[in-house]
Amino acid sequence: SYVVTENCIKCKYQDCVEVCPVDCFYEGANFLVINPDECIDCGVCEPECPAEAIVPDSEERAAPWTEINRKYASVWPNILRKGTVPADADTWNGKSGKVALLSE
Ligand code: SF4
Ligand code: F3S
Repeated sequence: SYVVTENCIKCKYQDCVEVCPVDCFYEGANFLVINPDECIDCGVCEPECPAEAIVPDSEERAAPWTEINRKYASVWPNILRKGTVPADADTWNGKSGKVALLSE
């Protein structure tokens, strides 16, 4: 499956949500996750993310994120439509150390 990784944190552009054919994105306060058990591996969301935060779980940089996606997908609500993007999203795009800012 595909998973959402660190650079989504505080960017949360949500373009991914609009294209997913199986609606398997789940929404936290400043991050989205994919339910790896529902993702059908179509790959459509990957190029849509302006933060390039979505990767196949086979990639090395996905490593810790697969379990994080699975964990939060089981507790956060399903998101079906793009909502408000954080006003300062662009200023966070590409910043390092965002994992510490992930809101549960
Ligand atoms: Fe949805 Fe396809 Fe992205 Fe999986 S790869 S989250 S099914 S758009
Ligand atoms: Fe996050 Fe990219 Fe979607 S920033 S909300 S994974 S479009």
